[in-house]
Amino acid sequence: MNKDYLWWRDGITYQIYPRSYADSNNDGIGDLPGIISKLDYIQDLGVDAIWLSPIFPSPDVDFGYDVADYTAIDPKFGTMADFDRLLAEAHHRDIHIILDLVLNHTSDQHPWFIQSQKSIDNPYHDWYLWANPKPHGDPPNNWQAIFGGSAWEYAPHLDQYYYHMFYKEQPDLNWRNPEVRQAMLDVFSYWLDKGVDGFRLDVFNMYFKDKALRDNPPKLGLRGFDRQKHIYDNSQSEMFPLLQEIRDILDQYPQSYTVGETFLADPAQTAAYCGEDKLHAAFNFDFADNRWHPKRFLDSATSWYQALPEDAWPNNFLSNHDCPRAATRYCFGEDDRRAKIAIAMLLTLKGTPFLYYGEEIGLRDIPIRRKADIMDPIGKTFWPLYKGRDGCRAPMQWRDEVNAGFSQGEPWLPVHENFPQRNVDQQASDPESLLNFVKKIIRIRRAEPALQRGDFTPLIQDPRRLLAFQRTYQDDQLIVILNFSSFNPEFQIPLGKWESLIEPGKPIPSTLSLKPYEVEILKKQHEPYPIEKDKR
Ligand code: GLC
Ligand code: CA
Repeated sequence: MNKDYLWWRDGITYQIYPRSYADSNNDGIGDLPGIISKLDYIQDLGVDAIWLSPIFPSPDVDFGYDVADYTAIDPKFGTMADFDRLLAEAHHRDIHIILDLVLNHTSDQHPWFIQSQKSIDNPYHDWYLWANPKPHGDPPNNWQAIFGGSAWEYAPHLDQYYYHMFYKEQPDLNWRNPEVRQAMLDVFSYWLDKGVDGFRLDVFNMYFKDKALRDNPPKLGLRGFDRQKHIYDNSQSEMFPLLQEIRDILDQYPQSYTVGETFLADPAQTAAYCGEDKLHAAFNFDFADNRWHPKRFLDSATSWYQALPEDAWPNNFLSNHDCPRAATRYCFGEDDRRAKIAIAMLLTLKGTPFLYYGEEIGLRDIPIRRKADIMDPIGKTFWPLYKGRDGCRAPMQWRDEVNAGFSQGEPWLPVHENFPQRNVDQQASDPESLLNFVKKIIRIRRAEPALQRGDFTPLIQDPRRLLAFQRTYQDDQLIVILNFSSFNPEFQIPLGKWESLIEPGKPIPSTLSLKPYEVEILKKQHEPYPIEKDKR
């Protein structure tokens, strides 16, 4: 590996939704021993880090995003000993571990909240956002929960409301309380001391809300939540000194990393949270939202780079546990050609690529046909307008065996019916498969510092069909050409001698005619120095 290699900048992160990856004890729920059993596969894929969606004890109203204990492992996923083993086994393979910290809210089953709601004098009462009703018993203000209805839940025995941005089982913490703040900072230290490499911070820009609880102003929109400008219920400036404090802790551990998930923030606001005294990175949702058009991806990538401060490094993702998978959004049926382009783009653009488990084999969302089958509560609330997030959370497809080799028991979500054809085993043995393509591009990326940390310059030719750009690092120059179309657009190669990294040795004409959905990566060859005759 080249020197100066920095895992979170130059490497690739692979997000695992632990419930759905591999089930070791056949209770239908993926677990840590299951993940451990797949570490060789993950290493062979060529990624540098695993981001685990929450593995802490949780009543699972929001499947782990409602945490009941920040420093323990949920028994359904295994034990702390399993986690220690996962960490050791991953590190042994140069794979880093990123934990998902959900610190904006806890579960209503967290002992802190159980205390908090006991009485107004309880020492934990102030750990959450309690407020008195307005005259006539109305909620303290007009704030809405993203998961539906008022954000305020009334507790009759206290004659007070508590605030929750998500489900009512996810009460928001009062980050202005110094004890809460300290308890949370201790969570960082606890896991860092164990050897964890980084964190994904769930909706971190929600931690603070307007102190005076002012009403959000109205705007046009469909649902109650969308009919407000969310200026008072998130993104308060107190977040900045807190980020500095978090970063100070992180910086005591070499090469540690934080990536933040913003909520209701545009790319410019998101970028403002990144930098040397803030987060290492944050997710750019704007990029993932694009429809299939090379110019759109290019535009959101370049504006993201411009928005980020100099001392921050971008990242890119197309899929996660909250939205339909990229392959579901972009591909037609089982045709993986667009999935290849999409992943090649992630792996070659400037920015750390985040892959979502199964993206490497083109998992498609499972269809949600009946309300009664839905696991994600928001899918039930908003049915049939919105069916929730089960689609992208289905089991990983390993083999053409019962439940795709995920579990011998009844999986918590059904396996996609395409599993007999679409699975890791099958794709591993097919040289043309998406999996082998992804591994190849990853190998190329791992060998080329320019693809990892090089500068980025767009090369605009036929922008309706092609996404092309140059990556340069020190003396290396690479060109990436991605044909988003089923046509044969042409691309003029800049002067110089170029070699294909996709198909080494292949002659490169000055005008390249691309095959439908073709990916080409070219590297400039250094000409031997001309020998001056008179000096011989
Ligand atoms: C984040 C998570 C999402 C969760 C929500 C509440 O957006 O990604 O899955 O429901 O936060 O924690
Ligand atoms: Ca299990």
